[in-house]
Amino acid sequence: MNDKEIIQRILDLKKAKNVTIFAHNYQRPEIYDVADELGDSFDLAQRARELQPERIIFCGVTFMAEMVKILSPESRVFIPSMQAVCPMAAMITREKLLDLKEKHPGAAVMCYVNTTADTKTLCDICCTSANAVDIANKLPADEIIFVPDQNLAAYVQSNTKKKIIAPEGWCYVHAKITEEKILEAKKNYPDAKAIVHPECKPEVLKRADAVLSTTGMIKYVKESDVDTIIVATEIGMLELLRRHAPNKKFFSIGGECIQQKKITLENLLECLEKDINEIVLPDDVMAKALAPLEKMLEYGRND
Ligand code: 13P
Ligand code: SF4
Repeated sequence: MNDKEIIQRILDLKKAKNVTIFAHNYQRPEIYDVADELGDSFDLAQRARELQPERIIFCGVTFMAEMVKILSPESRVFIPSMQAVCPMAAMITREKLLDLKEKHPGAAVMCYVNTTADTKTLCDICCTSANAVDIANKLPADEIIFVPDQNLAAYVQSNTKKKIIAPEGWCYVHAKITEEKILEAKKNYPDAKAIVHPECKPEVLKRADAVLSTTGMIKYVKESDVDTIIVATEIGMLELLRRHAPNKKFFSIGGECIQQKKITLENLLECLEKDINEIVLPDDVMAKALAPLEKMLEYGRND
């Protein structure tokens, strides 16, 4: 089957089986074309809670599919590839987090959604790149343990008077975006504005015109009157930004997230046909991880 035929088969089958396809903004362009819900981590969490569909196939990485399962517990949630695992989510372990909590008993625990369901059971509140600073400022605590992204933690620290306690942890895609790269891009396109994801290093964020989540970037390019935009995040965003602002010029200084790209039209179709790779979590994990995710949704987004 060629791509066109696979797409048609996916569209027919998802209708027949009453499946809602969720896709993260870093997915392949052909996945955008079959998705019902496309967005950043916050959008997808919110939509799962609102819609509570019968069946979801989640095109993204496993922590996102788990998050959606927790927020929509009656839905059957599937992922086309169980190999699509965000390496940063594995950088905080139960042991490390319990140790931090013991060392800082008065601190609140804030988990970036890029964590496993099990890690979420140990935290007070979750956040995404769309609301991390706002939540940290509003939380009733002077000290906050923030896991697992040290760069997002540093960004929060630079926007709050509270003490942020953050162990090592990073996204390899954003860590490869250097200050030299952003400076060179700014030199090549002097009239351009640079939009940067907060998973980038502090020295890159320092050069940003706007620090934004992936959906925040879409809003920015639609609303901004700038013609040329330097994009510091996963390279797949470029296609999505072009679709939203076809008359603007975009230059990426980011690489590819191999894990997000493990989802293909072929494994999506196989997942739809065979009902494989269902996300199943223990009941106690589902129950304990729900509260911090619900709290995050109550705060909303402010990017
Ligand atoms: P967003 O929520 O901004 O889409 O970020 C998720 C992610 O994994 C970025 O690397
Ligand atoms: Fe994880 Fe980075 Fe990929 Fe996002 S871009 S899913 S943080 S590895």
